[in-house]
Amino acid sequence: MLDQLEDLGQEALSGLEAMEDGDALDAWYKQYLGKKGALTLALRSVGDLPREERPAFGRAGNELKGKLEAAYQACAQAVAQAEMERELEQGALDVTLPGRPIGPGHLHITTQTLRQLTAIFAEMGFQVYEAPEVETDELNFGLLNMPPHHPARDMWDTFWINDEVLLRTHTSPGQVRVMRERYPEPIRVILPGKCYRYEQITARSEHQFYQVEGLAVGHAITMTDLIGTLTEFARRFYGPDRRIRIRGSYFPFTEPSIEADMDCILCHGEGCRVCNYSGWLEVCGAGMVNPVVLQNGGYDPGEWSGFAFGFGVERPALVKYGIDDIRLFYGNDLRFLGQF
Ligand code: DAH
Repeated sequence: MLDQLEDLGQEALSGLEAMEDGDALDAWYKQYLGKKGALTLALRSVGDLPREERPAFGRAGNELKGKLEAAYQACAQAVAQAEMERELEQGALDVTLPGRPIGPGHLHITTQTLRQLTAIFAEMGFQVYEAPEVETDELNFGLLNMPPHHPARDMWDTFWINDEVLLRTHTSPGQVRVMRERYPEPIRVILPGKCYRYEQITARSEHQFYQVEGLAVGHAITMTDLIGTLTEFARRFYGPDRRIRIRGSYFPFTEPSIEADMDCILCHGEGCRVCNYSGWLEVCGAGMVNPVVLQNGGYDPGEWSGFAFGFGVERPALVKYGIDDIRLFYGNDLRFLGQF
């Protein structure tokens, strides 16, 4: 029996000598060491031997098994190496090919627009002031002349953190923050930032968006200053020929309140799809700072006056670039983002 083992070992080892490819190697393994391989079966038959021969046979069998396993491993490595060299020679894998480049990123269209807007207002003497996105009910509503249960609150429903803290619905609460911080200095600031509303998401409205608020407080500031500022802004951002029109409106924090429109940049007032065939595009809500708000900011309305305005950031970008769906801004689709 031991002789048979020895023959088996020799046969197996010589089979490995000429081994060149992986498939043949697999077949070899199956033939000798697999579940039904010759050595496996031989070892399993140890019980058929006379009792006194079993220990020697078992020992020799296991020894051979170790030897064949080791030879197999060495051969497998050599075969893999040879296969790789063959592939390289045949040029199937060109290791000198450069990798696929990952292009440099760039600023998001909203960030680009925000920067254009702040640059324009900076040239007009407005500083940038940033206020928190998580705001108190008092600043978001109360101090802006909307006490609890004021019906105007319905225009701005939001996400509440608790009964008194919320995600701000507009950048307007920053007005009171700046005033309280700057009193008794005159003020000329813009407040850019993110706002939140509890809204249905549609092509025209998102529940997260950016706004830019403007605030000027000084002695003898008038509506003319406001209209001049808005006109200048529209011309610098949309083009030098822009015309502005003013409509009366209502906001609790301004008195009087207005809304400013400009002639449509596409049809120049003729009426088209972009302006909903009205010839005009809405620019912003604005007005003279309500005396109550001035007072809440610490400024005596008998001595001081001011104007304020607020507009969305995505909308000007939509208009300027002819985009028809606001959801594209935050959909994270590189096919869209890469165009700007
Ligand atoms: N906060 C207003 C909104 O989100 C926009 C606004 C209107 C801001 C008039 C102002 C303003 O400062 O004077 O709808």
